[in-house]
Amino acid sequence: MIIAIDDVLTPAEVAAIRAAAEDLDFADGRETAGPIARTIKANDQARPSPELDAIRGKVAASLSQNQVFASAARPKAMTPLIVSRYRQGQTYGMHVDDALMAGIRTDLSFTLFLCDPETYQGGALVIADTAEERAFKLSAGSLLLYPSTSLHRVEPVTDGARICIVGWVQSWIKDAAQREILFDLDRAIADILAREGKSTLLDTMTKTRSNLIRMWAG
Ligand code: NI
Repeated sequence: MIIAIDDVLTPAEVAAIRAAAEDLDFADGRETAGPIARTIKANDQARPSPELDAIRGKVAASLSQNQVFASAARPKAMTPLIVSRYRQGQTYGMHVDDALMAGIRTDLSFTLFLCDPETYQGGALVIADTAEERAFKLSAGSLLLYPSTSLHRVEPVTDGARICIVGWVQSWIKDAAQREILFDLDRAIADILAREGKSTLLDTMTKTRSNLIRMWAG
């Protein structure tokens, strides 16, 4: 399941975080790439600093409060967030993310867009499956969450700059199909609650959800 989550950050938060990100000191992204990625990766990543830590803290707080992110990812652990920048001519060719990063298994990858799509040309995140490729270029403050098992790439930026925050989640639910079932159950339970309040149907559904999580969590 690929899901776009809008308004993870408010417009004011996006503006503040983007301004802070633009002032960060960036290093060549190849410094953190493995031998294969190094040949196809051409971007910049923010160097460690107290200002980067402040951005990471604000975004992590917003993610932890986002109900859709919680339901779709069921995060158990996350890698430190990366602020990445693509300027004119920069790109990241087709690759799959490392399975293990910063001591966690990467089940889900996400990109939080900080720049409005009309402010740069190119730079779409393209996710491939065996049948087709799908390109995503979300509005500022929106986040794309997708399985880390996917091949994906970032199209070359041909004008302007694309600044994003990227990260990886180890989920309590390793299996993508099981995660989707729980995501759908969350939505069904919210619907029932809105329609009829607490009911025997709601009790049965929440019991089922809890027991599936017990069965699948690890
Ligand atoms: Ni990647």
